[in-house]
Amino acid sequence: MSSKIFVSFLAVAATGFAQQCPVTLDGRVPAGSTPATFATDASPFDSASTAAEKILHLDQIIKIPSVTPSLFDTNTIPFEVTLSDGSIFAPSATNVQTGFRRCEMILDGNTGTDDSTLGQKTMHFSLMKDTARPLNQSHEYQLFFLEDSSFSTNQVVLKTGTIAGVTGTDNLVMFGNVNTDVGTLFSTAFTEGVMHNFGVVMDFDANTTEILYSQDAAALTSVKAATANDISGQGQWHFGALKKPTGEGIKDVTKEGFQPSGINEGVIFAGIFEENSAGGCVSLSAAGAAGQVTVASNGTGAATNVTGAAAATATDKAKGNGGKAGGAKNVTKIAITCSG
Ligand SMILES: *[C@@H]1O[C@H](CO)[C@@H](O)[C@H](O)[C@H]1NC(C)=O
Ligand SMILES: *[C@@H]1O[C@H](CO)[C@@H](O)[C@H](O)[C@H]1NC(C)=O
Ligand SMILES: *[C@@H]1O[C@H](CO)[C@@H](O)[C@H](O)[C@H]1NC(C)=O
Ligand SMILES: *[C@@H]1O[C@H](CO)[C@@H](O)[C@H](O)[C@H]1NC(C)=O
Ligand SMILES: *[C@@H]1O[C@H](CO)[C@@H](O)[C@H](O)[C@H]1NC(C)=O
Repeated sequence: MSSKIFVSFLAVAATGFAQQCPVTLDGRVPAGSTPATFATDASPFDSASTAAEKILHLDQIIKIPSVTPSLFDTNTIPFEVTLSDGSIFAPSATNVQTGFRRCEMILDGNTGTDDSTLGQKTMHFSLMKDTARPLNQSHEYQLFFLEDSSFSTNQVVLKTGTIAGVTGTDNLVMFGNVNTDVGTLFSTAFTEGVMHNFGVVMDFDANTTEILYSQDAAALTSVKAATANDISGQGQWHFGALKKPTGEGIKDVTKEGFQPSGINEGVIFAGIFEENSAGGCVSLSAAGAAGQVTVASNGTGAATNVTGAAAATATDKAKGNGGKAGGAKNVTKIAITCSG
């Protein structure tokens, strides 16, 4: 995708989740949050002039669905990113991406050249269908991706819908670097009513990607061993929906093709965080309040239980200090690539 400017707004990230591996990015949304919470932190916006317009429409973009939290939520809740006809990202006045309907979240601190794409890191996220806002199976969507800092590739990307080069629809398909021939790392049915949990283990020193997966409250298991994948180029992690156009002979996918009007689509996300996996620390599950975190020396099993730091108290969370336990961040600033 061409270069873009992300308009930022803020979400309180008072996670308080007892975490054995150090948390490096945290997108877990505190219980009690509303769409407006995503814009009401005291911290300044990155881009106040354009942020104001977005915030007017925030409750049209962000929903707080009533679903069971993910296995890595403790006093944090799922949220939903929606697409409407207005979900058109315009990185600049002359680059209006009318070919896409898109809305993605970028975590605070993920500038594109930060530590979240160096060393050994595991990105965790869970996602679920909103049956009231179904995706259109005629289109290809990207729901999660790492886009390199030169905006020239996605080193890892989760797609669904009708995916170019893939037989069948309605699956969650994780690809390696799309500019290489690594292809599909993992595929599973995008079953409704199920929380699909992913752990993406990235060794940026070794250029490998391992995929962990589970459903609902089950602990993550390795579904694709560490695989050679060019994950160089750093970049930003995107969570949301990027809906591609249909049509033949499209030269510029950002501006051409067909998009139906009157859409009301959404994807539920939960439990987004990245941990430092240096030394092989990967969280496979979390027992929450008791401070139990299950880790494996690598993503392939042999989990052992260790006791994590005490969870942050409710008072800490109310003050926005919930991140004290286990190195979670104080405040998460989430940038968004769309308007409502
Ligand atoms: C789904 O997408 C196809 C192709 O763009 C379109 O023809 C159809 O009307 C869409 N369906 C809905 C329910 O939006
Ligand atoms: C990862 O692979 C790319 C492509 O081969 C290469 O340019 C880069 O240097 C590699 N990174 C590391 C850390 O080996
Ligand atoms: C991961 O750990 C398990 C259990 O200790 C071991 O059997 C396996 O060989 C390890 N895998 C890698 C890739 O190190
Ligand atoms: C880890 O602890 C949890 C919670 O106490 C328990 O349910 C689970 O069985 C334990 N796992 C192992 C591998 O001991
Ligand atoms: C969290 O942020 C608030 C508001 O900016 C600040 O007062 C507080 O000291 C921070 N807490 C920690 C643990 O950094």
